[in-house]
Amino acid sequence: MVSEIDAGNGKMRCELPIGVFDSGVGGISVLRELVALMPNENYIFYGDSAHAPYGTKSLEEVRRLTFADAEFLMQMGVKALVVACNTATSAAVKLLRERYADLPVIGIEPALKPAVRAAEHARILVLATPMTLREDKFCELMHRFEKEAEILTLPCPGLVEFVEAGTLSGETLEEFLAELFAEYLQHPVDCAVLGCTHYPFVKPVIQKVLGADVRIFDGGEGTARETKRRLAESGLLNPSGQRGEVALYNSLASEETMQLARRLLGPL
Ligand code: DGL
Repeated sequence: MVSEIDAGNGKMRCELPIGVFDSGVGGISVLRELVALMPNENYIFYGDSAHAPYGTKSLEEVRRLTFADAEFLMQMGVKALVVACNTATSAAVKLLRERYADLPVIGIEPALKPAVRAAEHARILVLATPMTLREDKFCELMHRFEKEAEILTLPCPGLVEFVEAGTLSGETLEEFLAELFAEYLQHPVDCAVLGCTHYPFVKPVIQKVLGADVRIFDGGEGTARETKRRLAESGLLNPSGQRGEVALYNSLASEETMQLARRLLGPL
């Protein structure tokens, strides 16, 4: 049990909030899973909507932005960092772990493993940002499972922007996806992996366009479980027994963005 007193506010370290961040509002899909699994924890979520999307930027730029996001949360005093962004995880999680070696840093990766386990030699489509699919982290993951399934990848530039604009349904989005998925409407897949934390917010439309038979997976729940495991291992679970609080921050800070963030968070 870590019983260290935090220098800033005199709180026990285990009572401090968990810091969660993303390039924008997408990481709220992971935040929801965290709250569902650990309702007694306090959370600070930071979305960098002013700079979203990350997935089409250079590696150097994404690393710089990711460190700025992490630093924002560190300044607020958090006991752990959850990188609720596949793109930032693939670009910088190793470097974050080196910089913040004294606290748990949990990343997210496309939920390929549960998709592979779900069916015998399935045809699996991984949807993610161009950077996630290009970086070594995902290439290694894919390599691990390539004998057990047929793994196809599809970068989805432009999809994050729909979610950032609060467009979670409608004809324009459906047409965009139908065009993006054209190849897989002709040659259907068994499973789709949502390898970007924005995509769960448009899951019903993705399901509608890909077809009702396609099983869809995302990494939010697995990341929440891994966060709980890492906190327990470090003696950092909040023992309060009372429901915690969720604070939302965003680099855009406009009323519209904060409203969207609250809408995506929904009732807890
Ligand atoms: N939400 C992000 C992810 O999980 C990044 C989207 C972006 O900014 O391109 O990859």
